[in-house]
Amino acid sequence: MAELKTNRFFHGGDYNPEQWLEYPEILEEDIRLMKEAKITMVSVGIFSWAFLEPEEGRYEFGWLDKIIDRLTEAGIDIDLATPSGARPAWLAEKYPEVLRYDKNFQPYHYGQRHNHCLTSPLYRQKVQAMDSALAKHYAGHPGIKLIHISNEFCGYCYCPKCAQGFREWLQRKYGSLAELNRCWWADFWSQRYSSWSQIEPPSPMGMFDNPSMALDWKRFETEQVRSFIEMERKAVHEYMPEVPVTINLMDRFNEYDLFTLSSAVDVVSWDAYPRWGAGDDLSTAIAFAMEHDMMRSFKNQPFLLMESTPSLVNWHPVNKLKRPGMHMLASLQAVAHGSQSVMMFQWRKGRGGAEAFHGAVVSHDGRDDTRVFRDVRQVGAALENLAPVLDARPDAKVCLIFDYENWWALDEVQAALRGNMRYFDTVLLFYRAFREKGISVDFRNMSPDLDLSAYQLVIAPLLFMFRNGIEEKLKAFTAAGGTLLTTFFSGQVNEFDLAYLGDAPHGLTDVLGLRAEELDSLYPDQSNELVMTGGQRLTVHELCEIPRDVSAECVGTYARDFYSGLPCLTKNAYGKGTAWYLAAKQDQAGVNAVLEKITEGMDLPQAFPGPLPEGVLATARGEYVFLQNFSGSEQHISFPGKMTDLISGREFEGEYTMPVNGILVLKQG
Ligand code: GAL
Ligand code: ZN
Repeated sequence: MAELKTNRFFHGGDYNPEQWLEYPEILEEDIRLMKEAKITMVSVGIFSWAFLEPEEGRYEFGWLDKIIDRLTEAGIDIDLATPSGARPAWLAEKYPEVLRYDKNFQPYHYGQRHNHCLTSPLYRQKVQAMDSALAKHYAGHPGIKLIHISNEFCGYCYCPKCAQGFREWLQRKYGSLAELNRCWWADFWSQRYSSWSQIEPPSPMGMFDNPSMALDWKRFETEQVRSFIEMERKAVHEYMPEVPVTINLMDRFNEYDLFTLSSAVDVVSWDAYPRWGAGDDLSTAIAFAMEHDMMRSFKNQPFLLMESTPSLVNWHPVNKLKRPGMHMLASLQAVAHGSQSVMMFQWRKGRGGAEAFHGAVVSHDGRDDTRVFRDVRQVGAALENLAPVLDARPDAKVCLIFDYENWWALDEVQAALRGNMRYFDTVLLFYRAFREKGISVDFRNMSPDLDLSAYQLVIAPLLFMFRNGIEEKLKAFTAAGGTLLTTFFSGQVNEFDLAYLGDAPHGLTDVLGLRAEELDSLYPDQSNELVMTGGQRLTVHELCEIPRDVSAECVGTYARDFYSGLPCLTKNAYGKGTAWYLAAKQDQAGVNAVLEKITEGMDLPQAFPGPLPEGVLATARGEYVFLQNFSGSEQHISFPGKMTDLISGREFEGEYTMPVNGILVLKQG
């Protein structure tokens, strides 16, 4: 793997200079403006294929050479993209096989972007040739610090080539149809296949009600994207092996397994577009904090914020401006969680096309004295002062198990709250409790090489699927002295989505000291209560599991219904550790209270040494503490000792009133 090395934060964004080739004065002016905005990196070439290869096999780099050289002379680093996110019209016209098919098995026409068939050997060959030519041409260029492969991989293709690819992938995986039929439980509804050719991708036009098949389809699609990335990475690394490669991921995205895709790149990056001002900024901030931490966790190393907007987007239903201070606050939030960059979409607003009115650093007026330009410049200046933070790393003692295959299985589950299992939001409840206390959290999936030894507390919420022997790892972690929390509807199915035979949660009943017998689902206006042994009453709703044969210590019971009095929260000593089990879904206040109980006496490092008002988040990155006011109003902070803010250089001690959207990056002393 090529390593990302930098002694300054990358600050910049998507440039898309091909829009301005007929405006040389603008391209000239851009360099001046970028220097003024303290831009240190721009991405070029992301959607430039029609300019890089205007005709099949005829490559033109001259126009880009000039731009790249000028940027490099000005000290601005280059993130060079491969252009495979949007293909030129000639390619689609000449080779219709590169066009994607939708889930009704209909081909798309030319247009749009991000909609190719990634299985098509011809598309792969064309991309590879383009990438090789690009990398060969720019090999050794001192300005190129990063390679950006394609753009926001997304979606599935249902073309005949993909269907055939799926069949071949299944053949390699299962070896025989008998094995496939067995693992897909295909004897039910006479779904057994007697020939591979009978298998089609899950679609509303065909088979879509076999969850085991749906899981395999998502694994196959992940594999197609992974191998596509690998192909592109190989093509560029043949000529520039020292330059790290990235792909830009998206939020709440689960079409592919992002842990798997991340393993194919040198550095993870992502595009974050929170809806600030849509209501409760604190909740928005915490959800994005979780995703920043996920991005850091995918490779357990620093990541990049590849896109964000300096002001507004054009694709939310309501495109609201960022309020004063929010650009700085949101940008540095990414840094707090381990980002080495603050990058934006895009540098300058185009005159036309789909995104002419999307926020950009430079607007149609071309001015450098706008509110947005000043905001961006301020972030650039702050990033200069934050240089010492580059080498600092967040350090977590709490681990949340988050697994894409489990997410898929829950999305497909034909039970409980069908189609509304809310896995991401369930994990977020637990994450939030820690985030609000300034406690760092890592995310790990159920990979075969999962190692939990660095953690004091492991939480595995709603882990419906157990795969790769996760139960053995959780058991060993607890036996060795760790604290484990598992919840309702866990350990139900294996990696094929086949229910485990025997007591649930699979393999953990002795660790937990109980078995989970039944799962009750409640209608939205219904609830129950968890009554803690001390008398505290906490709301539970949505999902209530009924444990039996409980030898564990009961810490709280159900208050109502036919399972009134049965345990809802339990604690079991196992080996040198403790295993907790939470039987029902809670609201945020309930999760906070339960975690308060579980972490009693544990010494989990908190980012800020004193109490914090609601809405102010503290995030530690090594010895630095990011204090962020997302409350929407002024907040009073009291500093227990002397601390220095790196952004302003100012020293703090005693009382301080934090402004709306304020941020400090503090160091002790
Ligand atoms: C991203 C995309 C960019 C641009 C941006 C607008 O999803 O990668 O190319 O479209 O959204 O917010
Ligand atoms: Zn296809």
